[in-house]
Amino acid sequence: MASASREAPTLTEPQWIDFRIMRGTASNEQEPTSYQVPYAPGMVVLDAIRWVQEHQEPDLAVRWNCKAAHCGSCGAEINGRPRLLCKTRVDEFAGKPFTVAPMKAFPLIKDLVTDVSWNYEVAKTIPPFKPAHSAPFTMYPEDIERVKEFHKCIECFLCQDTCHVLREHQQFGKYYGPRFMALIASHEMHPMDVEDRLPLLQGDAGVGMCNVTGCCTEVCPQGIHITANAIIPLKERVADRYYDPLKKWLYNRKQKRAQRAPSEASGNGER
Ligand code: FES
Repeated sequence: MASASREAPTLTEPQWIDFRIMRGTASNEQEPTSYQVPYAPGMVVLDAIRWVQEHQEPDLAVRWNCKAAHCGSCGAEINGRPRLLCKTRVDEFAGKPFTVAPMKAFPLIKDLVTDVSWNYEVAKTIPPFKPAHSAPFTMYPEDIERVKEFHKCIECFLCQDTCHVLREHQQFGKYYGPRFMALIASHEMHPMDVEDRLPLLQGDAGVGMCNVTGCCTEVCPQGIHITANAIIPLKERVADRYYDPLKKWLYNRKQKRAQRAPSEASGNGER
């Protein structure tokens, strides 16, 4: 019986993709520039951009690294929606022209590259994981069930880009944004962690600024339920500590006892 042969797809008569890239720098207005690139099966938007870079526009600026949706470098906006360039297939647009633009929330550097360094400054202000006991200690899968989802974050900052508190209202000094709510949640909900980040959440991190529209969850390429699993539980903890009279009284009593007997202070009782 003759064996079936599999032929590699070829592009003898290429189909062409029409798309636009917003080009320009911080000092001049961005303009949409149209390009046509040959289609290949499985092609993603980053492939199309790299083809343009290689064949037509060597100075086209785009940030990418892994081309595997792991590094988080290639966040941009496609038809106005924050997405990873390397995870968005061109055939999704069914032959219709589409537009690629830089993330709107952050200052533009050039073409598709924005300055996301504010996020790294925010990250430095968040107290790291502080275990109740020094290592080694035993952890079981069920202990980390609640926090493991947050560790899937690739820091693409698409959630920051879509967050209207940052994107539309530019409240960078008042709210850390969904990425950092997820990071704080990953520490706060860890059963071994004893650091108290509620004053930060109530203060500079500004968890109260979020009005839980869920837009961050919608754009997360890792499928992290940022609003439901991180932001809302953190809001509840802040409300318990600062606005529930009984819980506030219990917390103050616990603090006083801890000051009298430091050995009682292990854990904040809110894991
Ligand atoms: S290039 Fe790494 S996430 Fe897209």
